Amino acid sequence: TWSAVPAGPPDPILGVTEAFKADTSSQKINLGVGAYRDGNGKPYVLSSVKKAEELLSASNPDKEYLPISGLPEFTKAAAKLAYGDAAPLKKNAVAVVQSISGTGALRIGGAFLGRFFPHAKAIYIPNPSWGNHTAVFRDSGLEVKQYRYFDKKTVGLDFAGMKEDIKTMPANSIVLLHACAHNPTGVDPTPEQWIELSNLIAEKQLFPFFDMAYQGFASGDTVRDAFALRHFVSAGHQVALAQSFAKNMGLYGERVGAFSLVAADAEEKARLESQLKIVIRPMYSNPPLHGARIASTILNNEKLYADWLSEVKGMAERIISMRERLYDNLVGLNTPGGWGHIKSQIGMFSFTGLTTPQTQKLAEKAHIYMTADGRISMAGLNAHNIDYFSESVSKAVKG
Ligand code: LMR
Repeated sequence: TWSAVPAGPPDPILGVTEAFKADTSSQKINLGVGAYRDGNGKPYVLSSVKKAEELLSASNPDKEYLPISGLPEFTKAAAKLAYGDAAPLKKNAVAVVQSISGTGALRIGGAFLGRFFPHAKAIYIPNPSWGNHTAVFRDSGLEVKQYRYFDKKTVGLDFAGMKEDIKTMPANSIVLLHACAHNPTGVDPTPEQWIELSNLIAEKQLFPFFDMAYQGFASGDTVRDAFALRHFVSAGHQVALAQSFAKNMGLYGERVGAFSLVAADAEEKARLESQLKIVIRPMYSNPPLHGARIASTILNNEKLYADWLSEVKGMAERIISMRERLYDNLVGLNTPGGWGHIKSQIGMFSFTGLTTPQTQKLAEKAHIYMTADGRISMAGLNAHNIDYFSESVSKAVKG
């Protein structure tokens, strides 16, 4: 029956973890997947998460089904974290449902837009973008196109190219924007540039869909990282938003996220929520319970919330210190090329500029794993491996 099914390629990001696991060297380093590691290279369970779990366990909770749209205390708090005091939230005009982390939120959004967006179903994503965006939206029935984003020459934002491409998009296209800590480049528009983009997107009558997978990870401050989203909403855009709690709460495997849509008013919000439930029910019936309870406990408890914010800041700061150390090392080793971008990029990743052959060489010769586009997860670096990593990169660049 299945003789015509060809073997598929490994996933460009998660496949790196498989290759890393198969390597038996004690020197090996995994800088592929964007998952935070502590100063000893170990997965990090936040203490606010542990405390939330203790509180939960003491309350002896049941294991009943959640509603199709998820845990109400969680979705309410998630929307508040993202939108803050935005007017639509205050007037009960934001439709929000729990999702299976950020990917699930994008997929619910894609499926909803595929079904109800009353215009041509084209979505423009940045070039480059997170490797899974194309597949998620294509499998949701949208046509996926790209806009310019990254300038290889300056290793920064191609703002002129981005604006030019936005200007040529047909009215009523969907534009996917990374709310902060752009993946894979670590390059974000400045607040002034976001304001310009908001005006342009309004003028061209485009529909903004924000992917916010790293709130808190860009600057260490969840409010600052929500600037773009909140500005667009205050400017009157009825945005779509995908949120993930994988990175900022370290809840990777718990799959906690939310999808929301800004509606015109409470009546429209209720209609949108009813249809989001109809999108979700045949996909997975209702979302998982435990992670949403953890996130909800943290977001709704003043003390745990404060603890969590300082832990997010701590993770962001450790990454920044690694950026400084890597930059100093590469320059100190007289590595050809400019390396300032390592320090100026933000969030979980650095887009190093290493070529695919260099990344292959690093894997084969030095047991160092990263995605083929030269993206490294900064969180995989620590005081124990950064010198070895720097020397290996320097050698690879020198050829
Ligand atoms: C990444 O880009 O490494 C993360 O978003 C994890 C993933 O699922 O790809």
